[in-house]
Amino acid sequence: MTGRVVLVTGAGRGIGAATVRALAAAGDRVVAVDACQGDRGEVGYALATRAELDEVVAPYGDSVVAHLADVRDLAGLQAAVDLALDRWGRLDAAVAAAAVIAGGRPLWETPVEELALLWDVDVRGVWNTAAVTVPAMLAGPDPHGGRFAAVASSASTHGLHRLAAYNAAKHAVVGLVKGLAADLVGTGVTACAVSPGSTRTSMLDATAALYELPEVEGFAVNQLLRRLIDPDEIAAVLAFCCSRDAAVFNGSVLHADGGFSP
Ligand SMILES: NC(=O)c1ccc[n+]([C@@H]2O[C@H](COP(=O)([O-])OP(=O)(O)OC[C@H]3O[C@@H](n4cnc5c(N)ncnc54)[C@H](O)[C@@H]3O)[C@@H](O)[C@H]2O)c1
Repeated sequence: MTGRVVLVTGAGRGIGAATVRALAAAGDRVVAVDACQGDRGEVGYALATRAELDEVVAPYGDSVVAHLADVRDLAGLQAAVDLALDRWGRLDAAVAAAAVIAGGRPLWETPVEELALLWDVDVRGVWNTAAVTVPAMLAGPDPHGGRFAAVASSASTHGLHRLAAYNAAKHAVVGLVKGLAADLVGTGVTACAVSPGSTRTSMLDATAALYELPEVEGFAVNQLLRRLIDPDEIAAVLAFCCSRDAAVFNGSVLHADGGFSP
């Protein structure tokens, strides 16, 4: 096997699942992590199910393995890293794609519990993912190939109305990545963030529902591409961020948003 070994969170569907497929198609081996909470999650929409995660990994035999873990649970994530090390003896890259969205009200009418949830999943989840994967990359056979990529959002650079908690969380993801990159100076391992625009996934359906929009197509007008982005387009960017060639993105935010201008 010549491919790299990558851990992907939020792998049950959407951008995370598309990233697993892109990496596997390129010959990489992947630990596909998701909490698979279905409709048992704390958010107002259903998250991925175990059946969806199993469907993502099924085509790739022993090259891709599913692992059930909530990104809020450090031990569960550490077990995912251990799985990669036990099976393949190394970890080369990690993609932190798991997140949830909530909002729909102005900040002053938003229950603070919503901020707490987004902080826990969208920020602490990325933090935890870095905390367990980066040491494995540093200790691995190819630290100069070690790559950490967090999925941020256009909400990390813009203020999207009625999404103050999500804006805060995604701005924090960028801050976390920049701090991580500074900590990694001289190690060879690098960190970057990718900020997608409106991408055709279940989270975008949930966002439309928060705005009481009947469908998602209206989001396309915010992007100079004038269409929604396909998850495979973001996955291609993330797969490149996992490659040895992506060191130049260290400490950077890649705006994969089709020219987002709300
Ligand atoms: N879809 C968009 O328009 C868009 C735009 C900008 C950024 N993003 C970001 O892209 C990433 C992927 O989102 P998506 O659009 O594919 O959403 P999605 O809801 O389709 O997928 C998110 C995945 O994360 C998993 N997940 C949620 N909470 C988890 C937890 N606590 N632990 C482990 N897994 C958990 C879900 O089960 C699901 O499989 C997120 O970080 C999101 O914020 C999405």
